[in-house]
Amino acid sequence: MIVLGIETSCDETCSAVLEYDKNQQCNILSNIIYSQISEHKDYGGVVPEIAARSHINNIDVVVQKSVKDAEINYSSLNAIAVTSGPGLKGGLLVGVTFAKTMASILEKPLIGINHLEGHALTIRMIQKISFPYLLLLVTGGHTQILIVKGIGDYERLGTTIDDALGEAYDKTAKSLNLGYPGGPIIEKLAEHGDGSAISFPRPLYNSKEMNFSFSGLKTAVKQEIDSSLPINEKLRSNICAAFQNSVIDILENKLQMAVDYFKKNYSNDVDVVLAGGVASNKAIFSSINKMSKKKNFNVHVSPKELCTDNAAMIAWAGIERMNSGNFHQESVTIRTRWPLDENASKVRGAGVKA
Ligand code: KG4
Ligand code: ZN
Repeated sequence: MIVLGIETSCDETCSAVLEYDKNQQCNILSNIIYSQISEHKDYGGVVPEIAARSHINNIDVVVQKSVKDAEINYSSLNAIAVTSGPGLKGGLLVGVTFAKTMASILEKPLIGINHLEGHALTIRMIQKISFPYLLLLVTGGHTQILIVKGIGDYERLGTTIDDALGEAYDKTAKSLNLGYPGGPIIEKLAEHGDGSAISFPRPLYNSKEMNFSFSGLKTAVKQEIDSSLPINEKLRSNICAAFQNSVIDILENKLQMAVDYFKKNYSNDVDVVLAGGVASNKAIFSSINKMSKKKNFNVHVSPKELCTDNAAMIAWAGIERMNSGNFHQESVTIRTRWPLDENASKVRGAGVKA
């Protein structure tokens, strides 16, 4: 089976071609990412209008390159999978319209994919992890703990009540004038910092719920910066390290609750999967990896280029959907908000990224 994936939900125009062979192995034939970072850099975040225009300008070249690099013909495609939500409306419209047109001309099935399901299933492209497993989904727009019970079958245990973790990294980086995206820059600076030199809050730590809150942490960092101007290099690294220490403590605290819940309600054999852009952070992974040895669970993460946004994960989710017979090609419409667990209750707080 050969599937083309298209991803345009945020600030990367992506197209990939995957082959799923007779031995049930997945081969990534091409995985093209055109990053718009330089176009958004001056603004310290993604500007939706700029993103949409850039997708329009680049999608044809990116898709053509993915097919050329994969050394296939369009006729050998078995399906086209496209991110149809959640994300920025303009970008989603560009990707879905392009994919619909292609599918119609080529007379191929079209599969609409939830971007978050792309992140959630990526690990199964490279490792045989079976359902159910625990997912810590940490991206620029979402921070959730879910149980992945099957394709399209999720139980949300916790979510952020304000900022997503990637957003907190990006805003903290902006406060320090470090550029965008902030995650990789903060991770690097934190390596040289003394995280114990400053103590930042750990919101919702030890509360009974598995929800997260990062906006207070972000504000505490901003206050520290404002009261210590000018910031020298040492202090800057210490702030990054202390911020990241708080983040790791919060993640571990909630993960422990989720592991306990999983052991009680599902199985003692727990697989924890980290996914999304923030999951490419090595300090976070190595801390959770250490924790996993003590607390008796397995932890998995995909390579960096499959953690951050890409179209291979969308093509893979398409393959998973085709294998399970769980897709509706006639009804691909965009959904800017699209929770994985549609039954999860609304959480308190403003700006909820459900
Ligand atoms: O999954 P992703 O590529 O896009 C979304 O679906 O949102 O995640 C992007 C987010 C950004 O906020 C970025 O700062 C963060 O992931 N990120 C990181 C790292 N690499 C990317 N955060 C912390 N450490 C990193 N190494
Ligand atoms: Zn993403």
